[in-house]
Amino acid sequence: MASTPLSLLSLLLLLSFSLICAKPPTLHLHLTTDPTTTTTTDTLPTTFFEVTKPIKLPNTKPCSTHILQHDFAYTYGSPPVSTPYSPPSTSNCPSNTFSRIVLQWSATCKGRQFDRIFGVWLGGVELLRSCTAEPRATGIQWTVKKDITRYYSLLMTNQTLDVYLGNIVDTTYTGVYHVNLSFHFYPNKLSENGLNLGTLDNKWADLIIPISRNMPMNDGLWFEIENSTDVEVKEFRVPQNVYRAVLEVYVSFHENDEFWPTNVVNEYVLDNNLTGYPGNGPFREVVVSLDGGVIGAVWPFTVVYTGGVNPLLWRPITGIGSFDLPTYDIEITPFLGSILNGKTHEFGFSVTNALNVWYIDANLHVWLDEKSEKTTGKLLTQNISPLHVSLVSNYTGLNGTFVTKATRSIKSTGWVQSSHGKIVTETTQKFNYTNIMVMAENADSQIVNQIIEFNDSVYAKIPSSVVSKESLKTFSFYIHSDTEDKGNGSYAELADITLGFNEKKIGNSGSKSFTSVLENVQNGQGSMFVKGNLVVSGLGSTQQMYKYGDDEFCYFRDVSSSNYTIIYDKEGHTCSKSEKSGFSFVIGKHWPFPARDRHAI
Ligand SMILES: *[C@@H]1O[C@H](CO)[C@@H](O)[C@H](O)[C@H]1NC(C)=O
Ligand SMILES: *[C@@H]1O[C@H](CO)[C@@H](O)[C@H](O)[C@H]1NC(C)=O
Ligand SMILES: *[C@@H]1O[C@H](CO)[C@@H](O)[C@H](O)[C@H]1NC(C)=O
Ligand SMILES: *[C@@H]1O[C@H](CO)[C@@H](O)[C@H](O)[C@H]1NC(C)=O
Ligand SMILES: *[C@@H]1O[C@H](CO)[C@@H](O)[C@H](O)[C@H]1NC(C)=O
Ligand SMILES: *[C@@H]1O[C@H](CO)[C@@H](O)[C@H](O)[C@H]1NC(C)=O
Ligand SMILES: *[C@@H]1O[C@H](CO)[C@@H](O)[C@H](O)[C@H]1NC(C)=O
Ligand SMILES: *[C@@H]1O[C@H](CO)[C@@H](O)[C@H](O)[C@H]1NC(C)=O
Ligand SMILES: *[C@@H]1O[C@H](CO)[C@@H](O)[C@H](O)[C@H]1NC(C)=O
Ligand SMILES: *[C@@H]1O[C@H](CO)[C@@H](O)[C@H](O)[C@H]1NC(C)=O
Repeated sequence: MASTPLSLLSLLLLLSFSLICAKPPTLHLHLTTDPTTTTTTDTLPTTFFEVTKPIKLPNTKPCSTHILQHDFAYTYGSPPVSTPYSPPSTSNCPSNTFSRIVLQWSATCKGRQFDRIFGVWLGGVELLRSCTAEPRATGIQWTVKKDITRYYSLLMTNQTLDVYLGNIVDTTYTGVYHVNLSFHFYPNKLSENGLNLGTLDNKWADLIIPISRNMPMNDGLWFEIENSTDVEVKEFRVPQNVYRAVLEVYVSFHENDEFWPTNVVNEYVLDNNLTGYPGNGPFREVVVSLDGGVIGAVWPFTVVYTGGVNPLLWRPITGIGSFDLPTYDIEITPFLGSILNGKTHEFGFSVTNALNVWYIDANLHVWLDEKSEKTTGKLLTQNISPLHVSLVSNYTGLNGTFVTKATRSIKSTGWVQSSHGKIVTETTQKFNYTNIMVMAENADSQIVNQIIEFNDSVYAKIPSSVVSKESLKTFSFYIHSDTEDKGNGSYAELADITLGFNEKKIGNSGSKSFTSVLENVQNGQGSMFVKGNLVVSGLGSTQQMYKYGDDEFCYFRDVSSSNYTIIYDKEGHTCSKSEKSGFSFVIGKHWPFPARDRHAI
């Protein structure tokens, strides 16, 4: 089991230690700004936001439930905030079936505070993993809306809702997070048939089983993975009439692994006597096992939180995924044969090369055969290519180049016999990873260019037809940072960053087909002067291009900000056919990187 929740405390210690410690290689930290020295003439709170497509809603009036109002002051190490939850009742809502359900998190904060990770769980099932925005002296506000319709069956039952947001308030870090949480239930329109809106899943899961830590606790319900050998397990049991199952995995990385793509290899740490410096190289893999055997993996998108690299980059446009962290689905159906016996089984989570700490939990979505009490199944084949990681390093002292590459594929086939007939399901995950890291200027300069390809597919052979789903993802991460030690525990840093989240989804079911394309890229340029762990001056500029298209819907947004101000913001709902089918991978900057002068700020 996970041990004591010392994450944030040790983070603060680590921060003060790192910054007074020997001349460090470029180190990207959680930082916050000093409102006393970044005074502005603004008086209204700034609205922060993450760029994402609007949730497609039916043209019906929602039944809204205010779930929680809470002020998160000194909440670190306290139990989650809990409240009873009941679905809308006939007395407050004219409908009892809904085509969309939306979670809305609205918050304000004022003063100085770090970015804090938080989670929202319903009956132990995680609904949202998110990061708070960092406040400023004049105050901020932000809203996160998430489509939670896939948790439909759970949302129709009485449950306990828990929110854990571990915040620390003292005379320096004064920001209290004031939060409202609401759910909006959009009734079905008569013309709409059931719950199916543009996906191939013909309905949502009948039951969602939490694969998280059991209450009570003084922490989040996530498991904490502290090192590369740590395996956190959870026992569970499924009903005996399941015919399909999907494990939805939530992942976030913190402290020594918050910027894992920039972590250096251990030989470099040892050769340069950099004790305590985040190592284990830049490759990470989340491994999911069932009763001890590997069933799937997650090579996660590199979310940068709102205090990451340079906090001024994320004001007001926040980093991709930081307000609504991506989750990853692993199809479990081929393995159902081994868990339909009514006994308890065990999911396990580990992270290859992990340093303290990863927060991981999952939700098991299961579909039940309403026409039988027992289904049967069998795993037919499983091919797991061993993880292959290669490293080519060439360094002298603190200067050098490191190229890390990895590939992996996992393919599983199995059948399930239910009243739907005998369904044979084949699932494949294919991964490819490249990270090129350059350390120069005795490690005051670091350049990292990383690309992850993460392809998933599911083919299900039903007696009458074939259903297939594919998701092709490319996650890119680029950073160039130059640091200059200014003595007395202060430094100046310039950092350029590019984050890319691209995903193409293709589905086929009999005569129906579905395609969607997302290209989401952010570029940021930041400069800052840091004293202790406070940014005392600086500038952040960010540009983002978001393009989404599917068979029914199109959305783009081209937005830019600098020094808290939106420079331009173009939004649209039309796109050409070529834009819909185009799927070009945007890769930071290309090798070789241009030489660059360092400036003092
Ligand atoms: C940022 O904007 C503030 C006003 O809000 C201004 O005082 C400051 O000079 C600007 N900083 C830069 C680097 O442009
Ligand atoms: C929360 O809701 C209450 C009641 O509607 C409102 O007074 C308060 O300002 C809201 N707070 C936030 C942070 O949205
Ligand atoms: C759910 O909770 C509501 C409100 O507390 C209560 O009226 C109702 O009876 C509960 N339903 C069930 C099935 O327990
Ligand atoms: C890894 O973490 C686990 C869980 O905290 C702990 O029991 C184990 O001793 C750690 N192993 C190493 C090598 O530090
Ligand atoms: C690292 O420490 C060892 C032992 O103290 C010393 O011999 C060596 O020169 C040091 N190396 C560097 C690069 O400082
Ligand atoms: C290692 O780096 C040095 C200095 O940049 C270069 O001269 C040398 O050719 C490199 N060696 C290899 C094997 O790439
Ligand atoms: C993922 O799919 C794309 C598109 O088919 C392909 O170009 C790429 O090579 C695939 N990557 C892996 C790791 O399979
Ligand atoms: C992985 O990506 C690299 C670099 O883009 C490419 O050369 C290689 O062929 C890819 N491998 C696979 C298995 O897709
Ligand atoms: C590292 O590179 C810098 C200039 O980029 C140079 O001044 C320094 O001597 C180099 N260090 C080593 C150990 O080669
Ligand atoms: C460090 O701070 C002390 C006291 O504030 C000051 O006298 C000294 O000049 C500073 N040193 C540098 C390198 O800034």
